[in-house]
Amino acid sequence: MTRVLVVGSINMDLVVESNAFPRPGETLFGQHFATHPGGKGANQAVAAARLGAQVTMLGCVGNDGFGAALKAGLIAEGIDVRWLKQTDEAATGIAQITLCDAQNAIVVVPGANALLLPADLDAAEAAFADCDVVLTQLEVPLATVEHAALLAARHGKPLILNPAPATPLAAELLQCVALLTPNEFELGITLRAADADWETLVAQMPARVVMTKGEDGAWFSDGQGQLQHQPGFKVEAVDTTGAGDTFNGALAAFWPLGLAEAVWRASAAGALSVTKAGAQGGMPDLATLEHFLRTHLQHAVG
Ligand code: RIB
Ligand code: NA
Repeated sequence: MTRVLVVGSINMDLVVESNAFPRPGETLFGQHFATHPGGKGANQAVAAARLGAQVTMLGCVGNDGFGAALKAGLIAEGIDVRWLKQTDEAATGIAQITLCDAQNAIVVVPGANALLLPADLDAAEAAFADCDVVLTQLEVPLATVEHAALLAARHGKPLILNPAPATPLAAELLQCVALLTPNEFELGITLRAADADWETLVAQMPARVVMTKGEDGAWFSDGQGQLQHQPGFKVEAVDTTGAGDTFNGALAAFWPLGLAEAVWRASAAGALSVTKAGAQGGMPDLATLEHFLRTHLQHAVG
């Protein structure tokens, strides 16, 4: 059982289904509203836990109804929330998501997520000592992400960094990363090289890279300049929110299997996740994933 430490965001997703995106000044009637647990950190933690990993979550929620519900949700998934911070200083993070046709538009208000500080990670340093892999994203302060990288290095643990939402990253941080997992759009921004092609960027990276491209699948580099393509798995998409998070959580859970095996399984997990509403809806458990893989033999090609 892989021990995964997730350092990241926890949001309540406020999801509106609409026939159009409103323009400034316009009022529209939407078709449906639901709240779903979300936040890239929490989504990745849940994805890994469903697949059998032993997961610890470091994050911050407000002392409010959303915070209590989200914490209870993580506990129900078997996630260790011993070090979860709760604050009176800010409201629990939210993501306002409008779904229209196959597209979504998202506004994230970090709230309490912005108060996850390097000192909170120091207080939970035992969690770094006790894990096999550290997984983080960019919805908590960059200083906190950088401190997570430092603590992972101090304890000799590999760091998987999902650079989302996209922001340019310092070379010093990228040096500490064992695996970088951008989507096509995030890759150029992360590496401050918007115009370079993917092969050039990957060749410059000290770490291993997996680039995801929605239903087209994932491209990965094994660190020796060899590029491989993992084709996407075809599914009926209901809600693509959180597909990337499912992919990342699964990668961490399957990390000990090696990159090619982990990417294969993570791609299938990401595909299954889009078949149900909500970021965490549709994330498979291990039995569901294995059944899907037996019926969809879709291995990577060099
Ligand atoms: O990656 C999807 C997540 O991004 C959503 O759950 C939302 O909370 C935003 O943070
Ligand atoms: Na889903």
